[in-house]
Amino acid sequence: MRLAIALSLLISAPAVAAPDGATVYKKCAACHLPTGAGVPGAFPPFGADFATLAKSSAGRRYMILGVIKGISGPITVAGKAYRGVMPAQVGLDDEAVANVLNHIANNIAKAGKGFTPITPAEVAKVRAGGNGLTSAAVAQLHASAGGR
Ligand code: HEC
Repeated sequence: MRLAIALSLLISAPAVAAPDGATVYKKCAACHLPTGAGVPGAFPPFGADFATLAKSSAGRRYMILGVIKGISGPITVAGKAYRGVMPAQVGLDDEAVANVLNHIANNIAKAGKGFTPITPAEVAKVRAGGNGLTSAAVAQLHASAGGR
């Protein structure tokens, strides 16, 4: 009897998979637009800045924390100033955060060579280390991570 219960738990446990990147991206598209072109001065585009940041550990940390904690500028992206507020994207687990950032890097910002996918483990580590940060503190990471 016990064995039967244990077995049924084992079989049903992995049923809840994180949504894939394109599905999560629908949340982002409300502001950053489905194409990722953004709105100059309001919502930054996912282009060269994203592609550059996605290839350095400081840049990846900034973007992961941006999704988890939000971003409250000023930041400068592709030569334009942004003084908006991106709300923390609540309800995304480590895998969902990794999936959406990888989706943007591969399919929208076209990061190409030199980009290695973000893993859920990387997200978990950054999440744990960035616990006390405000969205304004996250914004300050942008320039030091090489964003421009
Ligand atoms: C309610 C609007 C809104 C939504 C929804 C939103 N963002 Fe943002 N996002 C912003 C704003 C505004 C900024 C710029 C913040 C500033 O002006 O300081 C930003 C900035 C960013 C940046 C930094 C870009 C750079 O080049 O520095 C990343 C990365 C990002 N968002 C990813 C996401 C992802 C991924 C999602 C979906 C899971 C998402 N955003 C959902 C409004 C939004």
